[in-house]
Amino acid sequence: MSPNRYLVSFDSRTAIHRFTDILVVGAGIAGLRAALEVPSDLSVLVATKDRITESNSSYAQGGIAGVLSPEDTFENHIDDTLVAGDGLCDRAVVERVVRDAPAEIEKLVEFGTKFDEENGHLALTREGGHSHRRIVHALGDATGHEMMRAVIAKTKATPNVTLWDDTFTVDLLTDASGCVGAIVWRPNAGVVIVWAKQVILASGGCGMVYRETTNPPVATGDGMAAAFRAGAELRDMEFMQFHPTVLYVAGSARSLISEAVRGEGAYLRDVHGVRFMPNEDPRGELAPRDVVSRAIFRTMERTQHSNVYLDLSHLPRDLVMTRFPGIAKVCRSFGLDIAKDRIPVRPGAHYMVGGVTVDADGRTTVPNLWAAGEVTSSGLHGANRLASNSLIEGLVYGAACGRGAARAASMMPGDLRALPLQFVAHDDEPDERLDVPDLTNALRSLMVRKMGIVRDRIRLEEATADVEFWCRYVLVREFDRRSGWELQNLLTVARLMINAATAREESRGTHYRSDFPERADSAGWNVRHVTARSI
Ligand code: SIN
Repeated sequence: MSPNRYLVSFDSRTAIHRFTDILVVGAGIAGLRAALEVPSDLSVLVATKDRITESNSSYAQGGIAGVLSPEDTFENHIDDTLVAGDGLCDRAVVERVVRDAPAEIEKLVEFGTKFDEENGHLALTREGGHSHRRIVHALGDATGHEMMRAVIAKTKATPNVTLWDDTFTVDLLTDASGCVGAIVWRPNAGVVIVWAKQVILASGGCGMVYRETTNPPVATGDGMAAAFRAGAELRDMEFMQFHPTVLYVAGSARSLISEAVRGEGAYLRDVHGVRFMPNEDPRGELAPRDVVSRAIFRTMERTQHSNVYLDLSHLPRDLVMTRFPGIAKVCRSFGLDIAKDRIPVRPGAHYMVGGVTVDADGRTTVPNLWAAGEVTSSGLHGANRLASNSLIEGLVYGAACGRGAARAASMMPGDLRALPLQFVAHDDEPDERLDVPDLTNALRSLMVRKMGIVRDRIRLEEATADVEFWCRYVLVREFDRRSGWELQNLLTVARLMINAATAREESRGTHYRSDFPERADSAGWNVRHVTARSI
């Protein structure tokens, strides 16, 4: 076994064991939707590393896309997704997700989600890249909070599902047959070996690899890194989506200012008050995210100013306050009245488009390991995700994984038993000599400077040299706490991202190379994915 296969030592003769039919790693929308799809005769354990409310899904503002209005069609939503994906989407996947979306939104209503309504119907808004109003939302701009409230309550009331919070999945456990469970760490128990007939990875994204991000601190790419160590294929890791409008006020956390704000008519202005998007793209402020983020980046360089501004002052105050109460509250805490004052914003890392490769049912390349949501690359998003297409992907693929894993587990009769497995990790360097927060910050800054919105060969080579150097002495250590494992996972993910960005010698979607500024379909990049696997 390679010294880096597992991050911690364990010995199945002495360890604490837990047995379950299905293990779900992650408690965002994809993980809980998967758990809820498993029939009641199978046991499900959901492990999440923080509180159950701490997921990207809970923080979603804008909403969930689906064709729900008679003026809209599946073809429109499919076309918008393909256009945003810039030639790299898998059309069959797009069609399937778009067609399943209305039923999945209905399912959320069944679970108890109260979406905003208008005249007795679900209220629909628009976001960048959408040709029609098709985004359902809740509590104005707190869609994720309301949706997860309902889904968490439903999960807690489901007898065959057990929830373990504060449980860090350090690694996926594999043998010659494929995935057989996971090594998890719990505060009062330490290392626990969870044996499972089937494992579903739904651990979310890796926005924390950047200093500027909309993601909560839990988004450290743990599932991507663990899947990589377990031998699963990952692909498209060069495609980190930058959200155009992240609040940029000294002292504030980098709060998202939802794209729905532009969907309702807000303008982007430069430091001189000039509206710049109409000169950049005929779709103006509602062009797809990659287009708007790059336009903001260029505007900041041109004006030599650290941000641009969102302007809602021409919109009715009532509309602004009813639709965006959460954003209004955050901005108010910095003395900004969003109906009157311009909001300082700049792009920040928001969504990892690439991830663990999955097929139409959510199967990874490792037997008995399934995956859904942001941790995956399903083919839906291509090179750039269309706004509000992520929760719907989590729902559709979460449900598919739940069904598939349940079917597979049912075909494995008999009880699980602990296999004799022992792994002793790494060298004897005491980890106290390493300043984990310092190195984590250095990595996150490096990613903004060298692997940000605009990339080139020289910057990527510099990033490679630094990350390889850090990996040499960090990945061989054995840590006994979350911050150390998170740093190891962030480094693993950063290395995959930089390698993929170096390999893709063209610009497409969220990946822009100033040394290769055009799309290179003729060189085959419209059908080629950069893939990576450890074994
Ligand atoms: C937003 O509200 O702008 C985020 C929605 C998304 O990322 O899909």
